[in-house]
Amino acid sequence: MKLKKVIKWTGIAILVSLVLGFLALFVAYWRSTNECFRNAGSVNNPMKAIVHCEYGSPDVLKLEDVEKPVPNDNQLLVRVRAASINPLDLTIRGPWLIRPLLGMRKPKDTRLGVDYAGVVEAVGKNVTQFKLGDEVFGGKNGALAEYVCVLADRSVVLKPANMTFEQAASVPVAAITALQGLRDKGKIQAGQKVLINGASGGVGTFAVQIAKSFGTEVTGVCSTRNVDLVRSIGADHVIDYTKEDFIQSEQRYDLIFDLVGNHSFSERRRILNQNGICVMAGIGGAGWHDGMAMRLAGELNAYVRSRFVSQKFITYIAQFNKQDMTLLAGLMQSGKMTPVIDRTYKLNQTAEALRYLEQGHARGKVVIKVE
Ligand SMILES: NC(=O)c1ccc[n+]([C@@H]2O[C@H](COP(=O)([O-])OP(=O)(O)OC[C@H]3O[C@@H](n4cnc5c(N)ncnc54)[C@H](OP(=O)(O)O)[C@@H]3O)[C@@H](O)[C@H]2O)c1
Repeated sequence: MKLKKVIKWTGIAILVSLVLGFLALFVAYWRSTNECFRNAGSVNNPMKAIVHCEYGSPDVLKLEDVEKPVPNDNQLLVRVRAASINPLDLTIRGPWLIRPLLGMRKPKDTRLGVDYAGVVEAVGKNVTQFKLGDEVFGGKNGALAEYVCVLADRSVVLKPANMTFEQAASVPVAAITALQGLRDKGKIQAGQKVLINGASGGVGTFAVQIAKSFGTEVTGVCSTRNVDLVRSIGADHVIDYTKEDFIQSEQRYDLIFDLVGNHSFSERRRILNQNGICVMAGIGGAGWHDGMAMRLAGELNAYVRSRFVSQKFITYIAQFNKQDMTLLAGLMQSGKMTPVIDRTYKLNQTAEALRYLEQGHARGKVVIKVE
């Protein structure tokens, strides 16, 4: 009798929670708005920026006048000279899974881009590390614009003099992802054998060079047209995935840095050494491609199953910090890392640039020049 009551009330509680949850989502969906609708027509000191008021394909992007930011006492105003785009910018499509974070019906943040390089045009009164005219690069939301305001103690550093603005702007997200994946998650050590799956893309071209800078033996996996490129940036061996499947090789690796996730847990485990690590950094080039959901499920499965074996399968989200940005600037300064730029577009061609990136076959980075 008592059990029946417990089951009945549990059922009612679940039903009520579901109805309330659904109502909350429904209300959040219809209340969801953004600054496009709040501030329409009220720009006092304009600058040009890429804006998306709605979710959708790159066609929703517009180059518009928005309010030019004003630095506070701890910030720099940077005149952006170049920016670069990343798979992350394709959240303009508004994937439903992450809409509770992005905004249910409309994107909360209407600005786009993160990576930038430019010139300091104003500094807050507490800023001592930078001065007017300094050439800098870093990461800041809304970087696809003429200006950004950034906190001086965050992820902004001096641009190495031997790098162009376009090269420096291609670095932040992609190179930090490669560095933190290899060093912090992969525990990379000199003399190790490292395999990089997806070696020819934005992250992969940095990963090959960073792995080499640690004194490792690097094997890059890419398609036929990118074999020479991957070899030219330092890979000791290159596997053309259209001709050979790397999991069939007799070679064993200490570290797999996997940007594609197109092999199972068992397949990758077979080519890892006893205490090897597989860093699961991505699920293939930018944009939607067949089997993405399966890849995601496969990575989750690998993460769980690796708890019970000697090899580790790890995933992560890269985080900006000044120390790592400084390290990357040093790698460029010393010539150990040179960005690979595939294509350069103008700010008013950002939609075209994203359409290209979305095809998933960029060779290095796609850069936006801001004039
Ligand atoms: N964990 C994080 O914090 C983090 C941060 C940034 C990015 N990511 C993820 O990392 C992945 C790569 O990002 P990205 O910026 O490098 O993307 P991207 O620039 O769009 O990568 C494109 C590259 O992927 C290669 N590729 C596609 N299918 C492949 C396959 N089956 N085998 C080997 N290479 C293949 C393509 O080479 P071909 O043209 O030769 O096919 C192309 O060179 C994405 O899934 C992204 O979401 C994760």
